Amino acid sequence: MSESHAIPQGVGNTVAAHVRLAITIQKYNPEIDTHPHDEIYHLEVPRGLTILDALIRIKNEQDGRLTFRYSCRSAICGSCAMTVNGAEQLACRTSVRQEWERYGDIRIAPLKNLDVIKDLAVDMRSFWEKTQAIVPWLLAETSPGAHPSGMNTYTFHNVDACIMCGACVAACTSHEADRRFLGPAALAKAYRFVADAREAEDARTARLAALQEPSGMWDCTRCNFCVQVCPKDVQPMEAIIRLRRAAIDRGLTHTEGARHVIGFRDLIAKYGRLNEGIMPLKVIGLNLRRFLDILPLGVRMLLKGKVPSPLHPSIKGVERVRAILERSGPRSDVSHLRPNVVDHANRG
Ligand code: FES
Repeated sequence: MSESHAIPQGVGNTVAAHVRLAITIQKYNPEIDTHPHDEIYHLEVPRGLTILDALIRIKNEQDGRLTFRYSCRSAICGSCAMTVNGAEQLACRTSVRQEWERYGDIRIAPLKNLDVIKDLAVDMRSFWEKTQAIVPWLLAETSPGAHPSGMNTYTFHNVDACIMCGACVAACTSHEADRRFLGPAALAKAYRFVADAREAEDARTARLAALQEPSGMWDCTRCNFCVQVCPKDVQPMEAIIRLRRAAIDRGLTHTEGARHVIGFRDLIAKYGRLNEGIMPLKVIGLNLRRFLDILPLGVRMLLKGKVPSPLHPSIKGVERVRAILERSGPRSDVSHLRPNVVDHANRG
Protein backbone atom coordinates (compact mmCIF):
# COMPACT_ATOMS: atom_id res chain seq x y z
CA MET A 1 0.00 0.00 0.00
CA SER A 2 1.47 3.39 -0.94
CA GLU A 3 1.90 6.24 1.56
CA SER A 4 -0.95 8.15 -0.05
CA HIS A 5 -3.31 5.29 0.80
CA ALA A 6 -2.54 5.36 4.51
CA ILE A 7 -5.60 5.46 6.73
CA PRO A 8 -5.24 7.52 9.90
CA GLN A 9 -8.09 5.77 11.64
CA GLY A 10 -10.09 2.61 11.43
CA VAL A 11 -7.46 0.20 10.04
CA GLY A 12 -8.24 -3.25 11.30
CA ASN A 13 -11.08 -1.77 13.34
CA THR A 14 -14.11 -3.10 11.52
CA VAL A 15 -16.57 -1.69 14.06
CA ALA A 16 -15.44 1.96 13.76
CA ALA A 17 -18.41 4.16 12.79
CA HIS A 18 -16.36 6.15 10.30
CA VAL A 19 -13.01 5.59 8.69
CA ARG A 20 -11.14 7.96 6.45
CA LEU A 21 -10.24 6.08 3.30
CA ALA A 22 -8.28 6.85 0.19
CA ILE A 23 -10.25 6.11 -2.98
CA THR A 24 -8.38 5.92 -6.28
CA ILE A 25 -10.41 6.75 -9.36
CA GLN A 26 -9.24 6.38 -12.93
CA LYS A 27 -9.95 9.62 -14.75
CA TYR A 28 -9.84 10.42 -18.42
CA ASN A 29 -11.14 13.40 -20.30
CA PRO A 30 -10.45 12.86 -24.00
CA GLU A 31 -10.61 16.61 -24.60
CA ILE A 32 -7.57 17.35 -22.42
CA ASP A 33 -5.89 14.02 -21.48
CA THR A 34 -3.71 11.89 -23.71
CA HIS A 35 -3.96 8.91 -21.35
CA PRO A 36 -6.11 7.83 -18.42
CA HIS A 37 -4.58 8.66 -15.03
CA ASP A 38 -5.41 7.96 -11.40
CA GLU A 39 -6.58 10.55 -8.89
CA ILE A 40 -6.85 9.90 -5.17
CA TYR A 41 -9.67 11.29 -3.05
CA HIS A 42 -10.00 10.98 0.73
CA LEU A 43 -13.40 10.44 2.25
CA GLU A 44 -14.95 9.78 5.66
CA VAL A 45 -16.71 6.49 5.08
CA PRO A 46 -19.53 5.35 7.37
CA ARG A 47 -20.54 1.70 7.41
CA GLY A 48 -23.06 0.95 4.67
CA LEU A 49 -21.75 3.55 2.20
CA THR A 50 -21.78 2.16 -1.32
CA ILE A 51 -19.25 2.89 -4.03
CA LEU A 52 -21.95 4.90 -5.80
CA ASP A 53 -22.67 6.91 -2.63
CA ALA A 54 -18.94 7.61 -2.35
CA LEU A 55 -18.73 8.77 -5.99
CA ILE A 56 -21.72 11.07 -5.52
CA ARG A 57 -20.15 12.56 -2.41
CA ILE A 58 -16.80 13.04 -4.14
CA LYS A 59 -18.57 14.75 -7.04
CA ASN A 60 -20.60 16.99 -4.71
CA GLU A 61 -17.82 17.81 -2.26
CA GLN A 62 -14.48 17.52 -4.08
CA ASP A 63 -14.60 17.20 -7.84
CA GLY A 64 -17.65 18.39 -9.74
CA ARG A 65 -16.13 17.27 -13.04
CA LEU A 66 -16.09 13.59 -12.07
CA THR A 67 -18.26 11.71 -14.56
CA PHE A 68 -20.14 8.44 -14.00
CA ARG A 69 -23.57 6.98 -14.71
CA TYR A 70 -26.34 5.96 -12.38
CA SER A 71 -30.09 6.11 -12.12
CA CYS A 72 -32.02 3.77 -9.81
CA ARG A 73 -29.44 3.35 -7.00
CA SER A 74 -31.15 0.01 -6.35
CA ALA A 75 -29.38 -2.53 -8.63
CA ILE A 76 -32.23 -2.40 -11.13
CA CYS A 77 -31.30 -0.12 -14.03
CA GLY A 78 -27.79 -1.49 -14.67
CA SER A 79 -26.29 1.88 -15.47
CA CYS A 80 -23.69 2.07 -12.65
CA ALA A 81 -21.56 -0.95 -13.65
CA MET A 82 -17.85 -0.25 -13.31
CA THR A 83 -14.61 -1.91 -12.30
CA VAL A 84 -14.02 -1.93 -8.54
CA ASN A 85 -10.75 -3.43 -7.36
CA GLY A 86 -10.40 -5.21 -10.70
CA ALA A 87 -13.87 -6.79 -10.77
CA GLU A 88 -16.95 -5.68 -12.71
CA GLN A 89 -19.60 -4.66 -10.20
CA LEU A 90 -22.64 -2.48 -9.71
CA ALA A 91 -21.43 0.57 -7.79
CA CYS A 92 -24.81 0.98 -6.10
CA ARG A 93 -24.67 -2.38 -4.38
CA THR A 94 -20.97 -2.58 -3.59
CA SER A 95 -19.96 -1.61 -0.06
CA VAL A 96 -16.90 0.62 0.27
CA ARG A 97 -16.03 -0.80 3.67
CA GLN A 98 -16.33 -4.41 2.57
CA GLU A 99 -14.11 -3.76 -0.43
CA TRP A 100 -11.56 -2.11 1.84
CA GLU A 101 -11.67 -4.89 4.38
CA ARG A 102 -11.16 -7.43 1.65
CA TYR A 103 -8.49 -5.72 -0.47
CA GLY A 104 -7.06 -2.94 1.73
CA ASP A 105 -7.60 -0.59 -1.19
CA ILE A 106 -10.38 1.02 -3.23
CA ARG A 107 -9.64 1.40 -6.93
CA ILE A 108 -12.41 2.41 -9.27
CA ALA A 109 -12.10 2.31 -13.06
CA PRO A 110 -14.51 2.19 -16.02
CA LEU A 111 -15.72 -1.11 -17.48
CA LYS A 112 -12.96 -2.80 -19.45
CA ASN A 113 -12.97 -3.41 -23.19
CA LEU A 114 -15.43 -0.62 -23.93
CA ASP A 115 -14.35 2.81 -25.13
CA VAL A 116 -14.30 5.43 -22.40
CA ILE A 117 -16.37 8.56 -23.02
CA LYS A 118 -15.17 10.30 -19.87
CA ASP A 119 -13.88 9.05 -16.51
CA LEU A 120 -16.16 6.12 -15.53
CA ALA A 121 -18.71 6.51 -18.34
CA VAL A 122 -18.16 4.08 -21.22
CA ASP A 123 -19.60 4.04 -24.71
CA MET A 124 -22.35 1.38 -24.68
CA ARG A 125 -23.30 1.74 -28.35
CA SER A 126 -21.64 -1.52 -29.42
CA PHE A 127 -23.43 -3.27 -26.54
CA TRP A 128 -26.84 -2.04 -27.71
CA GLU A 129 -26.06 -2.72 -31.38
CA LYS A 130 -25.29 -6.33 -30.55
CA THR A 131 -28.46 -6.60 -28.49
CA GLN A 132 -30.37 -5.25 -31.47
CA ALA A 133 -28.57 -7.67 -33.80
CA ILE A 134 -30.00 -10.75 -32.11
CA VAL A 135 -33.57 -9.59 -32.90
CA PRO A 136 -34.61 -9.06 -29.26
CA TRP A 137 -38.29 -9.71 -29.60
CA LEU A 138 -40.54 -12.70 -29.83
CA LEU A 139 -41.22 -14.17 -33.28
CA ALA A 140 -44.48 -15.77 -32.27
CA GLU A 141 -47.06 -17.80 -34.13
CA THR A 142 -49.55 -17.24 -31.34
CA SER A 143 -50.46 -14.07 -29.53
CA PRO A 144 -47.46 -12.85 -27.46
CA GLY A 145 -49.85 -12.64 -24.51
CA ALA A 146 -50.62 -16.37 -24.65
CA HIS A 147 -48.84 -18.64 -22.18
CA PRO A 148 -48.64 -22.24 -23.39
CA SER A 149 -49.01 -24.81 -20.68
CA GLY A 150 -45.76 -25.90 -19.05
CA MET A 151 -44.16 -22.49 -19.55
CA ASN A 152 -43.01 -20.84 -16.33
CA THR A 153 -40.21 -18.71 -14.97
CA TYR A 154 -37.84 -21.70 -14.89
CA THR A 155 -38.11 -21.96 -18.66
CA PHE A 156 -35.63 -19.11 -19.07
CA HIS A 157 -33.08 -20.31 -16.48
CA ASN A 158 -32.97 -16.77 -15.07
CA VAL A 159 -31.73 -15.08 -18.28
CA ASP A 160 -34.80 -12.83 -18.09
CA ALA A 161 -33.30 -11.31 -14.92
CA CYS A 162 -30.61 -9.53 -16.98
CA ILE A 163 -30.48 -5.77 -16.36
CA MET A 164 -28.15 -5.13 -19.33
CA CYS A 165 -25.42 -3.57 -17.19
CA GLY A 166 -22.58 -4.73 -19.46
CA ALA A 167 -20.49 -6.24 -16.65
CA CYS A 168 -20.36 -9.62 -18.39
CA VAL A 169 -19.23 -8.07 -21.68
CA ALA A 170 -16.45 -6.14 -19.93
CA ALA A 171 -15.26 -9.34 -18.23
CA CYS A 172 -15.51 -11.52 -21.36
CA THR A 173 -12.13 -12.73 -22.63
CA SER A 174 -13.50 -13.48 -26.11
CA HIS A 175 -14.82 -9.93 -26.37
CA GLU A 176 -11.41 -8.68 -25.24
CA ALA A 177 -9.78 -10.60 -28.11
CA ASP A 178 -12.43 -9.77 -30.71
CA ARG A 179 -14.77 -6.83 -30.22
CA ARG A 180 -17.04 -8.20 -32.95
CA PHE A 181 -18.02 -11.13 -30.71
CA LEU A 182 -21.73 -10.83 -29.91
CA GLY A 183 -20.89 -11.26 -26.26
CA PRO A 184 -22.54 -12.93 -23.28
CA ALA A 185 -25.33 -10.38 -22.74
CA ALA A 186 -26.67 -10.47 -26.31
CA LEU A 187 -26.37 -14.25 -26.51
CA ALA A 188 -28.14 -14.71 -23.17
CA LYS A 189 -30.88 -12.42 -24.45
CA ALA A 190 -31.13 -14.54 -27.61
CA TYR A 191 -31.55 -17.63 -25.45
CA ARG A 192 -34.45 -15.96 -23.70
CA PHE A 193 -36.37 -16.09 -27.01
CA VAL A 194 -35.10 -19.50 -28.09
CA ALA A 195 -36.40 -20.86 -24.75
CA ASP A 196 -39.79 -19.19 -25.13
CA ALA A 197 -42.46 -21.75 -26.04
CA ARG A 198 -44.36 -19.07 -27.96
CA GLU A 199 -41.54 -18.59 -30.49
CA ALA A 200 -42.42 -20.12 -33.88
CA GLU A 201 -40.36 -23.25 -34.53
CA ASP A 202 -39.02 -22.12 -37.91
CA ALA A 203 -38.10 -18.73 -36.45
CA ARG A 204 -36.30 -20.41 -33.56
CA THR A 205 -34.24 -22.47 -36.00
CA ALA A 206 -33.51 -19.39 -38.10
CA ARG A 207 -32.44 -17.52 -34.98
CA LEU A 208 -30.03 -20.33 -34.06
CA ALA A 209 -28.72 -20.49 -37.63
CA ALA A 210 -27.89 -16.78 -37.49
CA LEU A 211 -26.20 -17.13 -34.09
CA GLN A 212 -23.83 -19.83 -35.29
CA GLU A 213 -22.13 -17.47 -37.74
CA PRO A 214 -18.59 -16.18 -36.95
CA SER A 215 -18.52 -13.92 -33.85
CA GLY A 216 -21.60 -15.77 -32.59
CA MET A 217 -22.29 -18.53 -30.08
CA TRP A 218 -19.30 -20.70 -30.98
CA ASP A 219 -16.77 -17.94 -30.25
CA CYS A 220 -17.33 -18.20 -26.49
CA THR A 221 -14.26 -19.82 -24.88
CA ARG A 222 -16.18 -20.69 -21.71
CA CYS A 223 -13.85 -18.72 -19.42
CA ASN A 224 -16.80 -18.38 -17.00
CA PHE A 225 -15.98 -14.75 -16.09
CA CYS A 226 -19.43 -13.60 -17.26
CA VAL A 227 -20.99 -15.97 -14.72
CA GLN A 228 -18.71 -14.76 -11.94
CA VAL A 229 -19.37 -11.05 -12.39
CA CYS A 230 -23.09 -11.04 -13.24
CA PRO A 231 -24.88 -9.16 -10.44
CA LYS A 232 -28.16 -10.96 -11.18
CA ASP A 233 -26.94 -14.55 -11.49
CA VAL A 234 -27.99 -14.73 -15.12
CA GLN A 235 -25.18 -17.19 -15.95
CA PRO A 236 -24.76 -16.12 -19.59
CA MET A 237 -22.23 -18.87 -20.36
CA GLU A 238 -24.80 -21.51 -19.42
CA ALA A 239 -27.27 -19.82 -21.80
CA ILE A 240 -24.66 -19.98 -24.57
CA ILE A 241 -24.14 -23.68 -23.93
CA ARG A 242 -27.92 -24.18 -24.18
CA LEU A 243 -27.96 -22.28 -27.47
CA ARG A 244 -25.24 -24.57 -28.83
CA ARG A 245 -27.15 -27.64 -27.71
CA ALA A 246 -30.33 -26.34 -29.34
CA ALA A 247 -28.47 -25.64 -32.58
CA ILE A 248 -27.00 -29.14 -32.74
CA ASP A 249 -30.39 -30.67 -31.88
CA ARG A 250 -31.75 -28.91 -34.96
CA GLY A 251 -29.02 -30.29 -37.21
CA LEU A 252 -27.06 -27.05 -37.42
CA THR A 253 -23.73 -28.85 -37.39
CA HIS A 254 -21.59 -27.39 -40.16
CA THR A 255 -19.54 -25.08 -37.91
CA GLU A 256 -16.22 -26.16 -36.43
CA GLY A 257 -17.65 -25.53 -32.98
CA ALA A 258 -20.52 -27.95 -33.56
CA ARG A 259 -18.21 -30.49 -35.18
CA HIS A 260 -15.93 -30.25 -32.15
CA VAL A 261 -18.82 -31.14 -29.83
CA ILE A 262 -20.05 -33.98 -32.05
CA GLY A 263 -16.53 -35.28 -32.74
CA PHE A 264 -15.78 -35.23 -29.03
CA ARG A 265 -18.91 -37.23 -28.30
CA ASP A 266 -18.21 -39.72 -31.09
CA LEU A 267 -14.64 -40.33 -29.94
CA ILE A 268 -15.74 -40.83 -26.35
CA ALA A 269 -18.39 -43.29 -27.58
CA LYS A 270 -15.77 -45.19 -29.57
CA TYR A 271 -12.78 -45.20 -27.22
CA GLY A 272 -14.19 -44.14 -23.87
CA ARG A 273 -11.71 -41.25 -23.89
CA LEU A 274 -10.59 -38.48 -26.18
CA ASN A 275 -8.40 -39.39 -29.16
CA GLU A 276 -6.38 -36.20 -29.63
CA GLY A 277 -4.72 -37.54 -32.79
CA ILE A 278 -8.06 -37.71 -34.62
CA MET A 279 -9.86 -34.77 -33.01
CA PRO A 280 -8.46 -32.05 -35.36
CA LEU A 281 -9.73 -33.98 -38.39
CA LYS A 282 -13.16 -34.32 -36.77
CA VAL A 283 -13.24 -30.54 -36.30
CA ILE A 284 -12.23 -29.47 -39.82
CA GLY A 285 -14.26 -32.19 -41.55
CA LEU A 286 -13.88 -32.55 -45.33
CA ASN A 287 -12.48 -29.07 -45.80
CA LEU A 288 -9.27 -29.22 -47.85
CA ARG A 289 -8.47 -25.55 -47.29
CA ARG A 290 -8.71 -25.86 -43.51
CA PHE A 291 -6.67 -29.05 -43.69
CA LEU A 292 -3.92 -27.17 -45.57
CA ASP A 293 -4.21 -24.36 -42.98
CA ILE A 294 -3.44 -26.65 -40.06
CA LEU A 295 -1.00 -28.92 -41.91
CA PRO A 296 2.14 -26.82 -41.15
CA LEU A 297 1.27 -26.83 -37.45
CA GLY A 298 0.72 -30.59 -37.58
CA VAL A 299 4.09 -31.10 -39.27
CA ARG A 300 5.86 -28.93 -36.69
CA MET A 301 4.18 -30.85 -33.87
CA LEU A 302 5.14 -34.15 -35.51
CA LEU A 303 8.81 -33.10 -35.77
CA LYS A 304 8.79 -32.13 -32.09
CA GLY A 305 7.17 -35.42 -31.12
CA LYS A 306 4.02 -33.65 -29.95
CA VAL A 307 1.44 -35.42 -32.13
CA PRO A 308 -0.45 -37.95 -30.04
CA SER A 309 -0.90 -41.37 -31.61
CA PRO A 310 -4.33 -41.77 -33.22
CA LEU A 311 -3.99 -45.50 -32.64
CA HIS A 312 -5.00 -46.43 -29.15
CA PRO A 313 -7.38 -49.05 -27.81
CA SER A 314 -10.70 -48.36 -26.15
CA ILE A 315 -10.71 -48.15 -22.38
CA LYS A 316 -11.88 -51.08 -20.30
CA GLY A 317 -15.62 -50.86 -19.73
CA VAL A 318 -16.27 -48.59 -22.72
CA GLU A 319 -19.72 -50.20 -23.06
CA ARG A 320 -20.80 -48.43 -19.89
CA VAL A 321 -19.67 -45.08 -21.35
CA ARG A 322 -21.65 -45.83 -24.50
CA ALA A 323 -24.72 -46.69 -22.43
CA ILE A 324 -24.52 -43.31 -20.70
CA LEU A 325 -24.23 -41.51 -24.05
CA GLU A 326 -27.09 -43.56 -25.44
CA ARG A 327 -29.32 -42.42 -22.61
CA SER A 328 -28.60 -38.78 -23.54
CA GLY A 329 -30.67 -39.45 -26.68
CA PRO A 330 -30.14 -39.15 -30.42
CA ARG A 331 -29.86 -35.84 -32.23
CA SER A 332 -32.70 -34.80 -34.49
CA ASP A 333 -32.02 -33.28 -37.91
CA VAL A 334 -34.28 -30.43 -38.93
CA SER A 335 -31.64 -28.45 -40.81
CA HIS A 336 -34.06 -27.88 -43.66
CA LEU A 337 -35.87 -25.35 -41.44
CA ARG A 338 -33.70 -22.30 -41.98
CA PRO A 339 -35.84 -19.30 -42.91
CA ASN A 340 -34.60 -15.77 -42.53
CA VAL A 341 -35.19 -14.26 -39.07
CA VAL A 342 -35.84 -10.81 -40.49
CA ASP A 343 -38.32 -12.15 -43.04
CA HIS A 344 -40.24 -13.75 -40.22
CA ALA A 345 -40.16 -10.53 -38.20
CA ASN A 346 -41.52 -8.62 -41.17
CA ARG A 347 -44.32 -11.14 -41.61
CA GLY A 348 -45.27 -10.64 -37.97
FE1 FES B 1 -29.20 1.42 -11.22
FE2 FES B 1 -26.88 0.88 -9.97
S1 FES B 1 -27.82 2.81 -10.28
S2 FES B 1 -28.15 -0.48 -11.07
